[in-house]
Amino acid sequence: MDIARTPSTIDGNNQLADAPPEPKDPPVIRREDYKPFPWLVPQVELSFDLGISKTTVQAKLSVERNPAANADPVIHLNGDGLQPLTVLIDGEPTDSWHMEDADLLLSLPGESHEVTITTEIDPSANTQLMGLYASDGMLCTQCEAEGFRRITFFPDRPDVLSTYRVHMTGDAEAFPVLLCNGNLEASGANDDGTHWAEWHDPWPKPSYLFALVAGQLVANTDSFTTMNGRKVTLNIYVRDGDLPRTGHAMESLKKSMRWDEKVFGREYDLDLFNIVAVSDFNMGAMENKGLNVFNTKYVLADEDTATDSDFDGIEGVIAHEYFHNWSGNRVTCRDWFQLSLKEGFTVLRDQLFSQDMGSEPVKRIEDVRVLRGAQFPEDSGPLAHPIRPDSYREISNFYTATVYNKGAEVIRMMRTMVGEERFRAATDLYFDTHDGEAATCEDFIRAMEQGAGIDLGQFRLWYSQAGTPKVTVRLEHDGETATLHLSQEVPATPGQPEKQPMPIPLKLALFDRETGKHHGEQLVTLTKAQDNFSFAGFAQPPVLSINRGFSAPVTIQRDTPVEDLVFLAAKDDDPFARYEALQDLIVSHLKQAVDGALDLAAMQSAREAIARALGAVLADDTLDDLMRGELLVLPSETYLAETMLIADPGRIHEERQAMRAALGTMLEAEFVALHQRASAVPFSLDAEARGARKVKTQALIYLAAGNPELGKQMAWAQYQGADNMTDRQGALMVLTGLTGIERTDALMDFYNRYQGNALVVDKWFALQASSMHPACMAHVESLAKHPDFTLKNPNRVRSLYMAFAYNPHAFHAASGEGYKLIADVILALDPINPQTAARFVPQLGRWRRIEPGRSALMKEQLERIASAPELSRDTYEQVSRSLG
Ligand code: PHE
Ligand code: ZN
Repeated sequence: MDIARTPSTIDGNNQLADAPPEPKDPPVIRREDYKPFPWLVPQVELSFDLGISKTTVQAKLSVERNPAANADPVIHLNGDGLQPLTVLIDGEPTDSWHMEDADLLLSLPGESHEVTITTEIDPSANTQLMGLYASDGMLCTQCEAEGFRRITFFPDRPDVLSTYRVHMTGDAEAFPVLLCNGNLEASGANDDGTHWAEWHDPWPKPSYLFALVAGQLVANTDSFTTMNGRKVTLNIYVRDGDLPRTGHAMESLKKSMRWDEKVFGREYDLDLFNIVAVSDFNMGAMENKGLNVFNTKYVLADEDTATDSDFDGIEGVIAHEYFHNWSGNRVTCRDWFQLSLKEGFTVLRDQLFSQDMGSEPVKRIEDVRVLRGAQFPEDSGPLAHPIRPDSYREISNFYTATVYNKGAEVIRMMRTMVGEERFRAATDLYFDTHDGEAATCEDFIRAMEQGAGIDLGQFRLWYSQAGTPKVTVRLEHDGETATLHLSQEVPATPGQPEKQPMPIPLKLALFDRETGKHHGEQLVTLTKAQDNFSFAGFAQPPVLSINRGFSAPVTIQRDTPVEDLVFLAAKDDDPFARYEALQDLIVSHLKQAVDGALDLAAMQSAREAIARALGAVLADDTLDDLMRGELLVLPSETYLAETMLIADPGRIHEERQAMRAALGTMLEAEFVALHQRASAVPFSLDAEARGARKVKTQALIYLAAGNPELGKQMAWAQYQGADNMTDRQGALMVLTGLTGIERTDALMDFYNRYQGNALVVDKWFALQASSMHPACMAHVESLAKHPDFTLKNPNRVRSLYMAFAYNPHAFHAASGEGYKLIADVILALDPINPQTAARFVPQLGRWRRIEPGRSALMKEQLERIASAPELSRDTYEQVSRSLG
C-alpha cells in the first residue's frame, strides 16, 4: 500500500511555488441528501494499547446489510488522519479495500461479516483535541461530532448504533485509572508493569458518544438511589489536588438526577455514572454514555476560587450533560442537521432545572440576556441559519447559539402554548416512541402534536426559517375597548430572501392605570402577517405589558410612552416584564443619544427619568437582591448595537459609559448605602448572601463610573477584605478598568495568590482583556507574551482573546488594530485548533452592521484570512459565509 507518500514530498524543487495549490472548497453536506447507511454495525469490540505518543487501536466491527437501505457491497468507513496497519475480513487479511481521501472503502462479499482494522495514533500530537488526545499527562477522547474517525475507521454518523465492548491496556503507573462507557466488567495486572480493564456498554450508541479516559486521577465517590430503587455509583474524577473542589458538582449531579425523575419521569439506566474533569477541552462538557467528560471550569469550585456565577454554571452544565442521557443518548439524532433535537431540548431542560433550583425570574432574565447578546446577532448576520440547518461544510460550526438557545426557546414556546401537563404527556410519548432510535426534529414535533393535542403545522416554520421575527405593536383605545394591532415581519437571511408569517405566542396583560392591577394574563398567538385583538371593559386606556416572560423569541417594536415604561418598571407583577420595561427605557434613550438626537436639556431629563426608575429599584424592599442586581445591569453594548441597523461601536460605548457615570453621580448616596448594607451580610451560598454580593459589585460599577476616586477606594477595600471569589473578582474587575497604583497592586496580588490555579489564572487574563481600561489592547498584547499564555489550551485562549473579541470598546478600536489582532489569532490558531479558531470569525463577520470606517477594516481582515493558504474547513466555511 502506497500510503506514506504525500504529494508535497515528491520533489524537492520549487515547482509548486509559482503554482499555489488551489484553495480546496470543502464539499457542502445537505439535509435533503440523507440516506440510511447500507450497513448495520450491531457490535463493536475495541482494543486499546495506550501510550501518550503511541496508541494502537484494534477495532472489530460486526457488520450486516441494512434491510432498510439500498444494498451496497462496499462499506464506507470514515477516517481522519489514519492509516490502516491491517485490514481483515472474517479474520483473514484482505486487499479488497482502498482509500478515498481520508476514508477507507472495503468490499464485502456477503450479508454479514466481521471487519477488523488496526490503526496507530499519536495522542500527544493531537492539538485539535478531537479524537484521542493527551491533556496534562492523561489520555482522553472527544468524539462529537466527528472525532471517532480520528481513532479508528468507522461509519462515523449518529444513525449507526452499536453496543461497545472495550479492552484497555496501559502502563499501571502512568494510567492507574482506566475508564470507558458503561460498566467495568473485568480488570487485572500484567507482568510487564501494564494493567488492563474491560468495559461493556449495554446500550446501543452512535460513535460520537464513545469515550475513554486513562490517567492519574482521584474520585469523589457518592451514590444515588433512583426512583425504582436502583443504586447508582457516582464518581467525579479529577487531579489529586482538586478533590476538595468537587463537592458542588456532586450535589448538582444528584439534584439533576432527582429533578429529571420528578419533572420528566426519566430514570438513570446504568449502575455507574462517571464524570472526568480535563483542563484541555474545546467546549463546556460532553455527554458520553456513562462517562461525561467535562472542562474543569464546569466541575471545580469552592468559595475562594469560584464566583457565584461559576457555581451556577457548574450546576447548569452538570444538569445539561446528565439530561442528555435521555435527550441525546437514549434518543439520539438521525443526522447532524437534527442537532437541535438534542441540544435545544436539553438546554430547555437545564434552564427549567436551574429555574427550579434558584430564582425563576432571575434565571429567565439571564437566559434572555444570553439569547439577545449571542443569538440575535447571529440571526441578523451572515451566519444566520435555522435551528435545523439545511446545509453545512463543517458541522463543528453549527454548535451555535441558534441551535442551542433559540432551539430551547422554540420548544419553550410549545410548552407555553400547551401548558406544563400536556407538554409532559408529549415528552413522555416522544421518549417512549423513539427510545433506542436516531430521531429527527420532525419526530419530536409529531410527538408534541399527538401527545399534547396541538396542530403544529405552521409552527414548523420555526424549524426552517432563520431570522428573529419583528413584531410591531400598537394599542388603540376607543370607548370601552382596547384594540391591539399586531404585525410581524421575519427578516431575510442568507439563502432565505422571503419568509412566511410564523405563529408567535405572546403573553400579555392590560393594566388599569389607577389601580395598578390587571384582569389576568392572556396568551394571544399572532399567526398572520397582521392581526387585531380587542379587549372590552376599559374606560381608560390601559397600560400594555406584552411578551411577558419573554414568551416568544422576537423583538417588539413599539413606541411605548415613557410614562408607561416607568409604570411597568415599577409595578408589573411579571418580574421579567419589569426588567424589560427598564431595559426599554434605557435602550430607547441610548439610541437617541447615540444618534445625537438629544440636546442638553433632553439628555438631562431622560437621565433623570432613568435615575428615578433605578432609584425606585434601589428603594423597593419587595425585591430581593438577586433580582435587584439583575435590574441594575445595563443593556450590553453588543445588544445596543443589535438594536440599530448600522452601529457605531465607539459612540455606543461613549454614551453608555456617560449615562452610567451620570447615574452613578445622581445616585451616589444610594449606591454607597447599598454597598454598605450588602457588605454587612456575611458569606454564605444562600440566596440572600449571593444577592448581596451581586448588588455590591453592581454598586461599585456605577460608583466607579460616576466618581472614579471613590469607586477605586471602595473597590480596593472590597478587594482587600474579600473572603470569597465573587467579591474579589468583582472588585478587581472594577479596579482593572481604572488607572492608578491600586490597579497594579490588585492585579499583582491576585496573580501571586492564585498562580498555579489554571482556572483562576484564566480569570486574571479575562478580567484584563475585557476591561474598560483605555489601554486594554496594549495589555492584551503584552499578556500574550506572558509565560502562562499558550495557544494550545482553549480555556486560556478564550480567557485572553475571546474576552477581548467580545469587549466592544477594545475590539472596535477605530484604528482597526483590534480586528487585526483577532485575525492574527485566527491565523495562528487555525493549524493548532481549527474549531476554536473558527469561533473567532463571527465577531469580524459583523462588518455589514458596523459604520463604514470600521466596516471596511473588518472586511479587510476577513479577506486577509480568506487568502491564507491551507485554511481549515472550519475557518474556511465561516470566513467565506461572512464575506459572501
Ligand atoms: N454535546 C455537548 C453538549 O452540548 C457539546 C459538545 C459538542 C462538546 C462538541 C464537545 C464537542 O453538551
Ligand atoms: Zn448539549
